[in-house]
Amino acid sequence: MRKKLVAGNWKMHGSLPENRALLDAIISPIGTFEGVSCAVCVPFPYLFQVQSALQGTSIAWGAQNLSQHEKGAYTGEVSARMLSDFACSYVIIGHSERRSLYREDDKTVAAKFVAAQAGGITPILCVGETLQEREAGVTEQVVARQLDAVIELAGVKALDDAVVAYEPVWAIGTGKTATPEQAQAVHAFIRGKISALAVDVAQKLVIQYGGSVKASSAAQLFAMPDIDGGLIGGASLVAEEFVAICRAAQTGA
Ligand code: 13P
Repeated sequence: MRKKLVAGNWKMHGSLPENRALLDAIISPIGTFEGVSCAVCVPFPYLFQVQSALQGTSIAWGAQNLSQHEKGAYTGEVSARMLSDFACSYVIIGHSERRSLYREDDKTVAAKFVAAQAGGITPILCVGETLQEREAGVTEQVVARQLDAVIELAGVKALDDAVVAYEPVWAIGTGKTATPEQAQAVHAFIRGKISALAVDVAQKLVIQYGGSVKASSAAQLFAMPDIDGGLIGGASLVAEEFVAICRAAQTGA
């Protein structure tokens, strides 16, 4: 059975005192949960703070982006090596906000995926369609294209050390969660697609759902057979919400 993973994506939120208060409020309750992995993906400047607060706890941490390059004259960029200096377990790759606002194309996302793994960091690869694409009936084609770019560059076996997050763009920050059935259908498609290439990889692959997940919607989403946890935006900034979402992902919860 796959262990569920709930990861908070703090996006561009936080401050040293706010982070401290949030971490203080989540560490001990999450420490009592069983059969679920929890993580927070934070802005780069807070990695040291988060590492100091979370080392030795059951909560992992990571970043929200990285450069596809190893090092060099790339002003403003952060490499996988730098993230591993702060013991990051995860890095979010290809979030829709990066794809749309920063023009990251499938090729760049694939290169970032490879760079993360080369640095020993597990990529959380985000895929998902816009509302226009859903309404045009091309959800599966879009998700398949996003996955194929990574599989072509890294090989399907690379998904052994990766997480996929299905995040329908229309559900992000909008309060519109995909229904458990809508999400399950795409998760099953993703697993089926990978299964056609490597059954063992597909069976082990953790596929998270992301998009307006709240404590009130988490349990129903996580009850679906191919939904292995969540990538949580806004609700990960509210301690009680994030703790409740992690609780809902426990084995047998
Ligand atoms: P919200 O949970 O705020 O909709 O954000 C989802 C997301 O983008 C997580 O990466």
